[in-house]
Amino acid sequence: MPQESMQERWDALLDHLRLMRETKPVHYDEQTHFWNLYRYEDVVYALSHPAIFSSDTNSMVPQQSEISFMGRGDITQMDPPRHRQFRNLISQAFTPRMIEQLAPRISALTNQLLDAVTIRSEMDIIRDIAAPLPIIVIAELLGVPSEDRDRFKRWTNTLIASASSMDPNNEEMLTSMIPTMREMREYLEKYVQERRQQPRNDLISRLTTAQIEGQTLDNDEIVGFASLLLLAGNITTTILIGNAVLCLTDHPEAMIALRNDPSLIPSALEEVLRYRSPFTLTARVTASEVTLHGVTIPPRQLVSVWLLSANHDEHQFPNPEQFDIRREPNRHQAFGHGIHFCLGAPLARLEGKIALQALLERFPTLKRVPNVELEPHESGFVTGVQNLPVTW
Ligand code: HEM
Repeated sequence: MPQESMQERWDALLDHLRLMRETKPVHYDEQTHFWNLYRYEDVVYALSHPAIFSSDTNSMVPQQSEISFMGRGDITQMDPPRHRQFRNLISQAFTPRMIEQLAPRISALTNQLLDAVTIRSEMDIIRDIAAPLPIIVIAELLGVPSEDRDRFKRWTNTLIASASSMDPNNEEMLTSMIPTMREMREYLEKYVQERRQQPRNDLISRLTTAQIEGQTLDNDEIVGFASLLLLAGNITTTILIGNAVLCLTDHPEAMIALRNDPSLIPSALEEVLRYRSPFTLTARVTASEVTLHGVTIPPRQLVSVWLLSANHDEHQFPNPEQFDIRREPNRHQAFGHGIHFCLGAPLARLEGKIALQALLERFPTLKRVPNVELEPHESGFVTGVQNLPVTW
């Protein structure tokens, strides 16, 4: 059965992560040349100590200045004190209050997308709602035309697929990303220049005027940060919505409980984030030698910090393989931890909640189309499916 094969892959991954947590919690992989951290406590430790575990993994990439995903605006690559300055500046423009105000628009978009499928008897959750919704929202937020969303999707798919090998010495892979990055940068640069001349009520305009103690953002930084939002702001939320439907169709009792009591939706989403964490792992590079569980990692080593494994650590989560929409406490690491904690978490949670609520309300008999092969994302960075046909 094709669907079982996806299930088998998932079970095998969880088994592997469990074994590594038990037997080799700090492990050097000869093939990828990455060290790996699997336990919850070590993942939290690494993310809490940027002076030891630097985020500047681009410094390990061969001399290719263009390789940096988002150039000087890539906050995910910054360490203190630069990170703090940059994050304070963009936080002026990207506030939780601004996100809250998007709720009515996200609801309207969700209903519009679902209106288009109700006359049918089948839809693909990824194609029809989980992919378009976050792209339209982030495009409107930034102030770029959402009609260009096929282009954004193409950029995301190319960059995610290219990044899948994770080998900083694989120049062919790194070079293949350059045309896409260049195209994305040129596209956004035009809008940044326009908004500097004529500001509007959008995020790019607010980024051009953000100021703290005389410091501002230049065009390169805004373009880089906007590219990050276009990528980070869509694929992960797409995966979250897909994973939520995947978890609920796998656990019909949880779907019934949510329908009877929609106030459980936020806690169910946290469990989806834990159980099928959209970002499988994140990367760091050691700035100095560090010893964990008697194993010493030398300086200048790339480290995979396994968020999915931390989220299935039995020492932190009782019965981690049980999908429990009422799990409490649920201090998962799906959005990271510490200074780089996901800036878009409030937006991802809001979009996830609105989409799930609408799906449950409008399609009370929602179930998976049987015998359809689900295609997992090939990238080792993300955990999710590329198609998810459902019927009702
Ligand atoms: C379910 C959806 C999402 C997940 C699972 C997720 C996950 C993460 C994780 C794990 C990090 C930390 C990476 C690290 O420490 O190396 C992060 C950072 C970040 N995320 Fe998200 N994210 C999601 C949605 C979003 C959205 C919707 C946006 C923006 C619209 C966004 C913007 C960012 C930014 C800007 C950072 C960098 C913060 C910093 O470096 O200080 N994310 N995200």
